[in-house]
Amino acid sequence: MDRQALLNQMAQTLVAAASQGAFGDPIPIPRAETVNGPRAGAVRLFAGWHTGPLLRILAADDCALARQFIPWDFQDAQVYLDGRAVRVEAPWPPELATQAVRLREINRQPRGGGRWTIGIDELGRTVIGALNHATPHWLLAGTTGSGKTTALLGAALQFSRDPQTRLVLIDGKGGAGLYPLRNLPGLVGPIATDLESARNALGWVHRELQRRYEMMASGRAVAFPRLVVVYDEFQEHTSDPLIAELLRRIVLKGRAAQVHCLLATQHPTVRMFGEEGGAVKRNLPGRLALRVLDAKASEVVVGGPVPRADRLTGAGDAYAIATQTVRVQVALVEGEDLDEVERSEPEMDDYPPMGPEDVGQEVEEPRWSYTGEELAVALAAVVRGWGRPRLQAALEQRGLGRPGSVRADRLLRLAREQLEALREEGLEVVALQEEE
Ligand SMILES: Nc1ncnc2c1ncn2[C@@H]1O[C@H](COP(=O)(O)OP(=O)(O)OP(=O)(O)O)[C@@H](O)[C@H]1O
Ligand SMILES: [Mg+2]
Repeated sequence: MDRQALLNQMAQTLVAAASQGAFGDPIPIPRAETVNGPRAGAVRLFAGWHTGPLLRILAADDCALARQFIPWDFQDAQVYLDGRAVRVEAPWPPELATQAVRLREINRQPRGGGRWTIGIDELGRTVIGALNHATPHWLLAGTTGSGKTTALLGAALQFSRDPQTRLVLIDGKGGAGLYPLRNLPGLVGPIATDLESARNALGWVHRELQRRYEMMASGRAVAFPRLVVVYDEFQEHTSDPLIAELLRRIVLKGRAAQVHCLLATQHPTVRMFGEEGGAVKRNLPGRLALRVLDAKASEVVVGGPVPRADRLTGAGDAYAIATQTVRVQVALVEGEDLDEVERSEPEMDDYPPMGPEDVGQEVEEPRWSYTGEELAVALAAVVRGWGRPRLQAALEQRGLGRPGSVRADRLLRLAREQLEALREEGLEVVALQEEE
C-alpha cells in the first residue's frame, strides 16, 4: 500500500469510530485532512466543540487509543493540537519514508537577502530561512547524528553564493564537520577549530561590530555587507568566559549591524543568554529543532511542550521555528554540491590575535587559563632569556602540551609582568631550579 492509501484508511477509521461513539459520546468530525510528510504521516481531525475531549481521549496513556488507528509499523506516535485540529501522527517505516531531499534538487541559485533554502515541508513546499530583522540569529539543536552539521553546510553553502555575504566559520569539535567549507567564497579567515582561534575569530567579529556601530553613530553608514557566524557545537567553547561574553554581545547587538549567527548545539541549554526558555526565544528567535534526546531539551529549543522534537526521526527531520512552526525535511548537501563551489582563499591567513581589551574592562584577562605549572615554566624561561620557541618546546617536553604562538607569547608576557612586579618589591629573582 502506498502512503496516501494508508493515510486515507486511518482518517476514515478515526472519523467512523468517533462518530459511532467509540470514544464515549459520539463525536462528529465534519472534516479530516491527511498529511503525507516525507518522514511521518498524520491525520488532522477537525472536531469543533469536541476538540478538547477528543484530544484528551486520543492522547491519554501515551496515545494508547490513537495507536490502534495507525495502519503501519511505527515506534512513537504523537497526538497534539495543531492549529484547530487534533493531529494524530506517526513516523513512516524506513521502506516508506523519503530518505533524503537533495539541496541541488530544490535550490541551485542564491536566494539573496540573507535567505536560504532549509528544506521541504510536509506538503512538499520549499521552506526558506531568513537572516533578517525578525530572525537575525538561529539556534540549531539536535542530538548526535540528527543533522546539525548537514544543515549548517547547506546554509553556509548558499550564503557563499551571494557575493554580499561574508562568513566566519567556527567548529567547536575540531573542524572535521565544517572542513568541506574551507575554500568557500566569502570566508573572512580560516575555519577556527580550537579555543584560541575561536576567540580570535569572535574578537574580529566583535571589533567589526563595534566599527559598524561607530559608523552608524556618526551617520556614515546604516547598511553593511551581511556577516554570518556559523558555529558548530558552540557549547564546547562557552565555558570559556571570553568566548561566552563575545558571543553574547554579538548576538545582542548583531541585529542592527547585519551581523548574524547560526549556532548549533547538542545541548540546548543556553544559559549564557540568560535564563532558559524565554531568553532563547528572545535572543535566538530563529530555531531549527532537529531530533533531541528528551522532552526537556525539546521544550527549550521548540519554546513550548509541543510539538515534540524528541519524537522526530533524525537525519534532517526537524521543526523550523520562526514566525510559525513547520515540520521540515532539511535538504541534504552532497559532495557534488561542494565540488561545484568555486574555490577561493579566505581574505585573511589568520584572524589577528585578540586581547582582553577587545571586550573592554568588563572581562578580565583569563589568567585562569594558564596552570601554575605552565606559569612556572614561563617564569623560568623569562629568567633565562628564552624566546617563544624554547618555551613551546619546554612545555611540550614536560607533558603540558605545546601551546600555539599566541598563547606562548601571552604566557611570556604574563611571566615578564610577574617578574617585574617581584623586582619592584625588591626581590631578586635568579634562575629557578630546574633540570635542563
Ligand atoms: N538532511 C539530511 N537528509 C538526509 N540524511 C541526513 C540529513 N542530515 C543528516 N543526515 C544523515 O545523518 C548523518 C549525520 O548527519 P550530521 O553529521 O549532519 O549530524 P550531526 O547532528 O552534525 O551529528 P554529530 O553529532 O555527529 O556532529 C549524515 O551522515 C547523513 O547520513
Ligand atoms: Mg556535526
